[in-house]
Amino acid sequence: MTTASHDTVRALEWRDGGLYLLDQRRLPAEATYRFCPDAAHVAEAITDMVVRGAPAIGVAAAYGVALAASAAWQRHGDRWQSGMAEDVAALRRSRPTAVNLAWALDRMEARAAALPADEDPGPSLLAEAHAIHEADVAANRCMGRSGAGLIQPGSGVLTHCNTGSLATGGLGTALGVIRTAWADGRVARVFADETRPWLQGARLTAWELAADGIPVEVVADGAAAALMAAGQVDWAIVGADRIAANGDVANKIGTYAVALAARENGVGLMVVAPTATIDPATRSGADIPIEARDGREVLELGGRRIAPEGEGVDAWNPVFDVTPAGLVDVIVTEQGVVHRPDADGIARLLEARG
Ligand code: MRU
Repeated sequence: MTTASHDTVRALEWRDGGLYLLDQRRLPAEATYRFCPDAAHVAEAITDMVVRGAPAIGVAAAYGVALAASAAWQRHGDRWQSGMAEDVAALRRSRPTAVNLAWALDRMEARAAALPADEDPGPSLLAEAHAIHEADVAANRCMGRSGAGLIQPGSGVLTHCNTGSLATGGLGTALGVIRTAWADGRVARVFADETRPWLQGARLTAWELAADGIPVEVVADGAAAALMAAGQVDWAIVGADRIAANGDVANKIGTYAVALAARENGVGLMVVAPTATIDPATRSGADIPIEARDGREVLELGGRRIAPEGEGVDAWNPVFDVTPAGLVDVIVTEQGVVHRPDADGIARLLEARG
């Protein structure tokens, strides 16, 4: 493990023949990197939330495939393609909701399938993983500019979960828009939902914004509706883990409540996500697999039990929810924006993607 300096934070770095992941479970108290020398370590790090955020886990999984292929070449020679199958399957199982993971794995597998059996696949697949990483950085910049252009000067913005550098390869999705709009002088106040139970808003979003010198006010998730009713928010700006073909959006649990309160209070809802987050094979939000995690994440805080012990006290812990497309005002991607998304709008956007 090595220690990160606060102002050069990257969620993932390829160095020394392996993947270094900033251990996001320990932030903001401690910025330490975990070294993943093989695909199994990458899969475990994704499941355990060392790395999280839809685009970041896609990039991590891509590097995981490069590691799997190199190891399979060492062990199995020209049978490396079948030799890496179990590692790729483990990466695919590591988290179910964010489609960026499956998207990145499909792209890496397609590249692998096009390679000759009798050559070391490591360099080509590492180049492909770097390309996925670099494309995410560029997409972040592009979405930042498009989304910021929709925000009027003097606006109050509210975000949910963490969608910044920690969740992506670069500037971030929703947080990239907020950073860009702040730099343009369009944003007067930034509010971050704390985002129970993992506290990505309080721990990670506030940490990233503070590092950039952007003032942030953290609110309890339950305070977001009252904040909007008080007229403090012009835009709620969130990311996405999967957008269905009809424009329904799966994102961090609590996003749906934010969307309902936004609509009730005349606040705009902006969803910011790369096109890799759109899953045309998923017809609607009802078809999106929603990850359920251990109930202890809700019953405990910082490893200490806060609910009473004993029989009859349990938890329901889905970590994503689905916001119906009808509550979304605009989806911002690197390929363009879709106002009032529906199946036709999403199809037109994807046609342009090719
Ligand atoms: O469980 P997490 O922390 O991986 O959930 C992350 C989110 O829900 C983000 O809002 C989403 O991945 C978009 S990140 C750019």
